[in-house]
Amino acid sequence: MYFPFSLAFAVWDAILGESVSLSKSTQLQQPEPDSLIWDQIAPSTDLHFHSCYTGFECARLDVPLDWNKTSSSAARAAVAIVKLPAQVDVNDPRYGGSILINPGGPGGSGVNLALLHGRNIQRIVDSPISPDESLANGEKYFDIIGFDPRSVGFTTPSFTCFSDPQQRRSWQIASEADGLLGSSDAALGRMWARKHALAETCYAEMGDEAISFAMNTPVVAMDMVAIVDSLSRWRRQSIQTTHPIRSSQTWMKDDPDKLQYWGFSYGTLLGQTFASMYPHLVGRVVLDGVVDSDRHYSGTWDGNIVDADAIIQRFSVYCYEAGPERCDLFSEKGPASIQSSLDSILASVRDRPKSVSSTKGPEIITYSDVEILIRDALYGPFKAFENLAIALQDLASGDGSFIASLKQNQTSLKVPSGPPDYAEEVVGSISCSDGADQTNMTESEFVEYWHKARRQSRYLGDRWSQNRLQCIFWKFRPQFTHSGPIGVQTEPILFIGNTLDPVTSIENARRMNHKFPGSKLLQQESEGHISLSTPSLCTAKVVRAYFQSGVLPDHETSCQVYELPFGLPGERAPVPLDKGDKILLEALRTIANQMW
Ligand SMILES: *[C@@H]1O[C@H](CO)[C@@H](O)[C@H](O)[C@H]1NC(C)=O
Ligand SMILES: *[C@@H]1O[C@H](CO)[C@@H](O)[C@H](O)[C@H]1NC(C)=O
Ligand SMILES: *[C@@H]1O[C@H](CO)[C@@H](O)[C@H](O)[C@H]1NC(C)=O
Repeated sequence: MYFPFSLAFAVWDAILGESVSLSKSTQLQQPEPDSLIWDQIAPSTDLHFHSCYTGFECARLDVPLDWNKTSSSAARAAVAIVKLPAQVDVNDPRYGGSILINPGGPGGSGVNLALLHGRNIQRIVDSPISPDESLANGEKYFDIIGFDPRSVGFTTPSFTCFSDPQQRRSWQIASEADGLLGSSDAALGRMWARKHALAETCYAEMGDEAISFAMNTPVVAMDMVAIVDSLSRWRRQSIQTTHPIRSSQTWMKDDPDKLQYWGFSYGTLLGQTFASMYPHLVGRVVLDGVVDSDRHYSGTWDGNIVDADAIIQRFSVYCYEAGPERCDLFSEKGPASIQSSLDSILASVRDRPKSVSSTKGPEIITYSDVEILIRDALYGPFKAFENLAIALQDLASGDGSFIASLKQNQTSLKVPSGPPDYAEEVVGSISCSDGADQTNMTESEFVEYWHKARRQSRYLGDRWSQNRLQCIFWKFRPQFTHSGPIGVQTEPILFIGNTLDPVTSIENARRMNHKFPGSKLLQQESEGHISLSTPSLCTAKVVRAYFQSGVLPDHETSCQVYELPFGLPGERAPVPLDKGDKILLEALRTIANQMW
């Protein structure tokens, strides 16, 4: 589906990696094992934050599992919440409140996103003036809040159809070896059988669990209301304890706190759903990499990938501009020739995978492996274009050891002991529960859908269409759905779309922007999924100004990026950077470089 941030195991490794590299400046140590943190926190209806992961605070919010059965004796869920505290105290007039974030998927962990990128996201939204130097009340500093949606990450109860992490890993490796749709004559039959087996197992193991019917997006929106509300109570209590007089002056007549939110990818669907269900609770909301809510809720997910192939054309153009030094696939004959070598290298492994003998052990490189690399490059070109060129060139005229090493590095990562990010059955369950019942779809109807997706994108259609396959076998239906329309009058929302985004096209962003009267659309002139996939000072400053003071661009605006893939310069007339810009650019680069 729509995954902007690293998939599966990679994110775990990346969390450790970030902690290690940050340790020089902020004395972060290796994080404690996650189970020690979360198991020790008792869920509560008022937030009690405990320090965790060095520099963060964790809490578990107790909510009803079924929002129609709110008594404390009915079944409950506990939402895992991690807070990166603001740079100023909640008592400080410059405290700007909390900004919730969601990484997409569905099935992505907001806790992991906050741990991995929270600090840099905070650098984007906060005033560039350090709190020691800013005395005026105009500057704002925010808490960044990551939460795990229902059935995701450390939120309980969990939804899982594997008995242990090792079993899941084996299944995943075997599924990858079966290959993407279209990679062989056997691939469709195998994937069909696998999705069938997965759905049946989930049905047998989780069929009696209430969570199986209460993890779709509108229910998560209801949980978000509870999060906003509990944060607001927590803030009042903090102020009351330390400033009893001020609290009675400023707080008692206040309106309820509203949602401040930056949602990415599927997180934009969550944001649109929240806004449509609770328009009066919309504060400042940024929806970045916009999902088409109609296609999502209808369960077809078609039409999202129409811009994907144009990104590969841009790959060839940038490669040509970058030259042989920076792009291994460079040809002086020009971009068309570069793209045709990409195509012929891809085709060359279709029937004959490449054999690689490496010091780690034997490996083969298949058509699916190359398609996955291309897919990663479409999502995060800023870093992945260069790797794609190295990998393809190595496959064509080298020994294939580069891709072999990537694959081996992926599989030799330690199996995470905690809950996985983007678990296959969770991604499927949320998507299938949101969409219409598909259990009547026949194999030939599915093949027709797949071929249509391939016509929309020959590089992404195979991977994209398999999202829908699980729903053909998915029998769980949600007990609660949002029956109203998506799109209402709210405080203005900021929509952001890239000119060429592989899975959330700019057309989606335009359509959704029209559904919310008064909202504004910012187009970032770049390739890749979500704005953070390429550093843009311009976009970051628009987001910052909106969170700082509610200012939005006029009508439809566009932003250039500061730098392009292969180290090419971005903005036509680069602005001279002041100290604040340098810090901002560093934050943006770090996020873009870690995205894939
Ligand atoms: C695989 O991991 C090793 C050891 O960390 C690293 O040196 C190597 O560059 C990695 N391979 C690739 C292709 O990234
Ligand atoms: C599936 O097909 C059966 C038999 O034709 C029909 O009764 C049922 O309503 C269909 N279900 C859906 C969800 O379309
Ligand atoms: C609560 O119950 C009513 C009546 O059965 C139903 O219409 C509504 O969708 C339910 N709400 C939730 C959140 O389950």
